[in-house]
Amino acid sequence: MCGIIGYIGSKDAVPILAQGLKNLEYRGYDSAGIVTIYKGKLATAKCKGRIADLKSLLKKKVLRGNVGLGHTRWATHGVPSVVNAHPHLDCSGKISVVHNGIIENFQDLKENLKKQGCKIKSQTDTEVAAHLISKLYKGNLEAAVRGAVKKIKGSFALGVISSDEPGKIVAARRDSPLVVGLGSGENFIASDVAAILNYTKQVIYLEDNQMAVITKDSVNMLDMRGNKVNKDINTISYRQEDVQKRGFSHFMAKEIHEQPQVLSRIISCCVSRQNTIRFKDFNLDSSFLKKVENIIIIACGTAYHAGLVGKYIMESFLRIPTSVDYGSEFRYRKPVIRKNSLVIAISQSGETADTLAGVREAKKSKVRVLSICNVLGSSLTRESDSVIYTHAGPEISVASTKAYTAQIMTLYFLGLYLANLRNSLSKSYINGAIASLKKVPTKQREILQNSSAIKAIAKKHLHFGAFLYLGRNINFPTALEGALKLKEISYIPAEGYAAGEMKHGPIALIDEYRAVVCIANNSFVFDKMVSNIQETLARKGKIIAIATQGNKQLREYLKEIIFIPPIEEEFSPLLTIIPLQLLAYYIAVLKGYDVDKPRNLAKSVTVE
Ligand code: F6R
Repeated sequence: MCGIIGYIGSKDAVPILAQGLKNLEYRGYDSAGIVTIYKGKLATAKCKGRIADLKSLLKKKVLRGNVGLGHTRWATHGVPSVVNAHPHLDCSGKISVVHNGIIENFQDLKENLKKQGCKIKSQTDTEVAAHLISKLYKGNLEAAVRGAVKKIKGSFALGVISSDEPGKIVAARRDSPLVVGLGSGENFIASDVAAILNYTKQVIYLEDNQMAVITKDSVNMLDMRGNKVNKDINTISYRQEDVQKRGFSHFMAKEIHEQPQVLSRIISCCVSRQNTIRFKDFNLDSSFLKKVENIIIIACGTAYHAGLVGKYIMESFLRIPTSVDYGSEFRYRKPVIRKNSLVIAISQSGETADTLAGVREAKKSKVRVLSICNVLGSSLTRESDSVIYTHAGPEISVASTKAYTAQIMTLYFLGLYLANLRNSLSKSYINGAIASLKKVPTKQREILQNSSAIKAIAKKHLHFGAFLYLGRNINFPTALEGALKLKEISYIPAEGYAAGEMKHGPIALIDEYRAVVCIANNSFVFDKMVSNIQETLARKGKIIAIATQGNKQLREYLKEIIFIPPIEEEFSPLLTIIPLQLLAYYIAVLKGYDVDKPRNLAKSVTVE
């Protein structure tokens, strides 16, 4: 989604803004722009395409100044074009705005502004904000922004500058993330800390309906009535190199290979020396957790698939009903939420608009919300009653990989923790489960060492026009996730199915042009998967199987098998997904696609 950076200080603003936008590239965008104030005037440079294009433009059109805003746009209203790219200006050319989010009432505002004589140039919703602020401007930028946001319906993270007040940036937020970065003799605003990590690690997160007025030497945090609010300063724990590729060709490859390290980190955070499970700052009281009668999981995309694995975990460990909903469905379907429900919201970014809306819907019923989230201080974590962080480090690639296994690992520990509290599993089972989970990172490493064999399979199958992924039981979500990974980065139609559903429809698709990925690890449903494999072979489907090392049976009739180390069925999703992530990655790379920035997708979906 769109990205914002703002700088005010004594240095040349353009290189800082350009670097910030470069760091935000991973979020997905189609155009970019910068505005600075120099000698009392605003100057902009905007282009369609990549930051590299913007940098070339900036060589021809040199922008000076020590204060400015930068933006990467992911088109919502209006095609990607120079005129639609941010920053936008008012008619006088004195006020400039960058915006993330959606102004829902922009048509009404636009008509009104036109009647007042405004000339609106772009098709965007954002431009109206520049004109609105301008109409309300009476010599105090922050008052004008405050007045404007009162009239705006929808979501926004706004950065605003005016050539009449060159020493300040005004920022405002509602339902779209924004942080202030603190420097010495300089300050920043950004939609994502990645933008400013090169310059500072000290940040203040804006909450909904808060504003910031920053100068080079001061930061004022305000509510929408202009009252001062006291805010904590947070220190970002990760480093700039965590958002670099470190020798990998793509962030996706780096993040796939980071999974053993991430899971080891989760194990050391969640398991004490005495082998008990604990969560840092977990504040849901035991008496409530013992009373919970059902669990509702809310998430989107890959996190939703982790939630589906969570359903298997919770129902088998706790024997209580667990439902899993897309945030986008939960928010509108008038869900039944009983008194003793626990809502678990899962999100890598903590900023997904639909997941947040689902949580808000749930909170209307006064239930408690626990979030499983990767991003410290994100909106979801602030709106939840308690949080378990996934410790996966920054995930830059649009296609989520390490966050997925981190979410699942966290769900295992949560399930075991609750089972211990509620006496639904024996101590020996829990100890055995912890021992098995501790072995997962080493087993993942073994699969990753076999990457070249997976690449060879990818090479043989990249020309298939469609893929079907089949899994059963706790690996049915793995099939869904494998298919999602392939379609989002290689653009090959791919469907995930519960293998038992084959005969109820998808078998009609099978012929020699269809690649069928079968998750057939050793488990009590293995024989059932073998039947699906036979049915596929009988119809000439081309099978790629994921099987357990030592399995000789499949060798008799299958050529393409990716082996994984032996693991109990209930923990196998932490292994079976790794070859599917690699398969999708290699197919996309071999097809020549930009895997880290797939078309039409954005890393953090902050609009509905
Ligand atoms: C898929 C992917 C998306 C996200 C989804 C939810 O690879 O990245 O499907 O999983 O947009 O995002 P978060 O987890 O940030 O809420």
